[in-house]
Amino acid sequence: MDAGVLAQVLRDLPPIDDPNVLVGTSTADDAGVYRLSSDLALVQTVDFFTPIVDDPETYGRIAAANALSDVYAMGARPVTALAIAAFPDSLDPQILGRILAGGAAKAREAGIAVMGGHTVKDDEPKYGLAVTGIAHPDRIVRNDTGEPGDALVLTKAIGTGVMTTARRADRIGEAEMEEAIASMEQLNRVAAEVMATYHAHAATDVTGFGLIGHLREMAGARLGAKIDARAVPLLKGALDLASEGVAPGGSRTNLANALAAGVEFSESVPDALRLLLCDAQTSGGLLVALPAAEAAPYVRDLEARGIQASVIGALDETSRICVN
Ligand code: CO
Ligand code: CO
Repeated sequence: MDAGVLAQVLRDLPPIDDPNVLVGTSTADDAGVYRLSSDLALVQTVDFFTPIVDDPETYGRIAAANALSDVYAMGARPVTALAIAAFPDSLDPQILGRILAGGAAKAREAGIAVMGGHTVKDDEPKYGLAVTGIAHPDRIVRNDTGEPGDALVLTKAIGTGVMTTARRADRIGEAEMEEAIASMEQLNRVAAEVMATYHAHAATDVTGFGLIGHLREMAGARLGAKIDARAVPLLKGALDLASEGVAPGGSRTNLANALAAGVEFSESVPDALRLLLCDAQTSGGLLVALPAAEAAPYVRDLEARGIQASVIGALDETSRICVN
């Protein structure tokens, strides 16, 4: 889900009182969770957006990976998907076909099929998936159930917002986008599968609110966190671009919101890095809170399976977010 405006509007609706709704709208979690039986829960999410890269297949793959990510972030396994798309009459319909093909290929990589979907006419293309997953109701990993002392592990580098903005403004070429594109296309499947072999207390995927924004939700009012800014992996070139002022408006808003919410940046953290830590991500990695002793083994297991991962800090009882 992850949409700020949506969260606001949903909060104004009457509360959900169905006891089988295990995760609803109250905690800004990544997906809704519904208990079908004592050992089976449905995990449902939908995500779609306008093109962030020029190539239609690449856009489709990124949008699908991004939508699937919310299921992985719950510790669940995706089982089916439906496509949701908007497309203008003025564009060649073959482009829509290529977007859908990219998304379908990414869904296949996740081991699921896109069973159908719905398309409407619109001025600007939009594409994404509604994804259904399953999990044992007791094995759901929520976004706000971390414990003091938990280590925080991040499973992708930060900076996709800055890099896509730089590409759009022609500040960088196709070649300099390769790392960001590979990162956005990468499923969080392995990160979630390996997470399931540990005792993760909380997890979320880093998307539009940026690393600090999603961390703020994870900590909630109950917990705080210390982040080692220099331990956060960054996409190559992103810091230089951010220091030249290249960033999406959403990232600046995220930084302003973080400061307004009392997030404390130490003086040793330069402005460009502060902005990057708040950079609005597309198809970002998982942010996982797990017992400190499990952090290094989790990272090792991920690296052995080709996933970049880093311990970037820890949760604590302070209710303050401090970035050093
Ligand atoms: Co989402
Ligand atoms: Co999410």
